Amino acid sequence: MISIPTHTLNDGTTLPALGLGTWPLGDDEAQAAVLSALEAGYRLIDTATNYRNETGVGRAVASGVVPREEIVVTTKLPGRHHGYEETLASFEESRARLGLEYVDLYLIHWPLPRVDRYVDSWKAMIKLREDGLVRSIGVSNFTAGHIERLEKETGVLPSVNQIELHPFLPQDELRAFHAGKGIVTESYSPLGRGTPLLEDPAVTRIAEAHGVTPGQVVLRWHTQLGAVPVPKSANPERQRANLDVFGFELGEDEMRAVAGRAHRRVGGDPEVHEEF
Ligand SMILES: NC(=O)c1ccc[n+]([C@@H]2O[C@H](COP(=O)([O-])OP(=O)(O)OC[C@H]3O[C@@H](n4cnc5c(N)ncnc54)[C@H](OP(=O)(O)O)[C@@H]3O)[C@@H](O)[C@H]2O)c1
Repeated sequence: MISIPTHTLNDGTTLPALGLGTWPLGDDEAQAAVLSALEAGYRLIDTATNYRNETGVGRAVASGVVPREEIVVTTKLPGRHHGYEETLASFEESRARLGLEYVDLYLIHWPLPRVDRYVDSWKAMIKLREDGLVRSIGVSNFTAGHIERLEKETGVLPSVNQIELHPFLPQDELRAFHAGKGIVTESYSPLGRGTPLLEDPAVTRIAEAHGVTPGQVVLRWHTQLGAVPVPKSANPERQRANLDVFGFELGEDEMRAVAGRAHRRVGGDPEVHEEF
């Protein structure tokens, strides 16, 4: 089994350097995927209320294949539940579906600036952490401006911001902002979901040079940036390969070659995207 390095978060807890994404798996598929991932050595699992698979993820965690305390379970607050009381209630629903006493990492899924209630949700997240129901709190799809507002209004910074990050969207500025604030960057759609990234000649050439797969080159690129990718795979063989990126290193030229491409998003723009 592969052993994975960890990051220490600004609240003192640890986060594995790579995790498993579970969107868009249903409960049964998610249960099977998380089970095979745990067996392969994954210890960070990413779900969300809006993925509608927390029950399946929870079943795999409860299977006992890995001790509960070794697994970092992440879930996310949906847009329809922004607000202080709404967040507390939504969290309890997630916790019940997951069947867990505590959640390791709880994120605000999207900032929804038009709705403008993410600060109230953040205050509820702080309370959940104080009450011991959540180990670490963070955000997703937040800009530097949104995070500065949380800091100004509550004095509490997120431990993590999970953002779209892949070689078509390297997020240099936001990553530098995170580093300055002690926030760990998590990369979603790390393999550039739906883009031709893994067939790109620059990536396949580097893969051949190291005797690894294109997916491993891209995931290694993330870890060398200091970001924590959460690639989704329901295929046990690809899950194992995706995790096996800690035994080789990309040179500076190779890091530049992986990132050197025209920028494009595969997901929503945080300033306007609304996910309820
Ligand atoms: N916070 C947010 O707003 C947000 C938004 C989007 C995603 N996410 C999270 O991030 C996770 C990952 O993002 P994503 O699912 O959008 O994209 P991704 O991980 O970049 O790509 C997933 C796709 O790549 C395939 N794949 C996986 N490993 C591969 C490999 N080694 N070679 C070739 N193909 C491979 C998967 O198929 P197979 O299953 O068949 O392997 C799947 O179709 C999600 O599952 C979710 O947990 C969060």
